[in-house]
Amino acid sequence: MTHEALSYTIRPMELGDIPTVVAIDQLSFPTPWPASSYAYELKHRNASFYYVLLKPEENGEPRSEQGWRRWLLSVPGLGKQERRVIGYLGLRLCSSETHISTIAVHPNWRGKGLGEFLLLTALERSWKMEFGAVTLEVRPSNQVAQRLYRKYGFRFTGVHAGYYRDGEDAWLMAVEIDQDAYRARLAELRRNLELRLSNHLPSKHDSSTTHVGQNPEGKL
Ligand SMILES: CC(C)(COP(=O)(O)OP(=O)(O)OC[C@H]1O[C@@H](n2cnc3c(N)ncnc32)[C@H](O)[C@@H]1OP(=O)(O)O)[C@@H](O)C(=O)NCCC(=O)NCCS
Repeated sequence: MTHEALSYTIRPMELGDIPTVVAIDQLSFPTPWPASSYAYELKHRNASFYYVLLKPEENGEPRSEQGWRRWLLSVPGLGKQERRVIGYLGLRLCSSETHISTIAVHPNWRGKGLGEFLLLTALERSWKMEFGAVTLEVRPSNQVAQRLYRKYGFRFTGVHAGYYRDGEDAWLMAVEIDQDAYRARLAELRRNLELRLSNHLPSKHDSSTTHVGQNPEGKL
């Protein structure tokens, strides 16, 4: 899965990606998964799919990327591919639906449509595997993620009281993907996203709001 215009690539996560994924996890979630959890998911969970998002090979890096790059270069054993990881996605297959277990973009790369690219990938993969719905959990305080999910048709379906370790509830959200009308909507969203990525369109969101409502705990 590649976005041709900018060569952003989404490919299955490999064990060698885990150090970078864990580092992004730590920047994205206060209670991130340890490397062992990712390793377990990749080795033993047959009904899970994990993906990484790679930045374009030699594209200009944001200024804020420089410290991150220094960190990446200091990690022994990281290959060129693993150094390009800037986001990831986890998808679990349930009986009639898929469940998004995690999704994150490195903070330096947010607001460019890449979270959308990951979510679109989850929806398109689910649809191709003939699942009827996609579900997830989100914190009521994570307004940024909720806006992203609503843009793709997710609706509130319930609450898991005190789901997170600090006691915050989780909101359950779901979208049905097996209707023709939804597939047409997804195709239109993909076209708009491709346009946005190829034109380097800036975020509509004020940078001061970038972190508003971001998930302060852990996974979805
Ligand atoms: C949630 C997350 C994946 C979004 O990724 P992103 O690359 O920044 O988002 P995108 O640039 O693709 O934006 C897509 C949509 O998300 C919403 N969004 C993104 N940034 C936003 C902001 N600062 N304020 C409000 N809405 C925002 C909007 O709906 C946006 O669509 P629009 O630009 O047409 O309005 C990213 O913020 C992240 O990694 N957060 C930390 C981890 C996390 O909270 N994961 C979700 C757990 S449930």
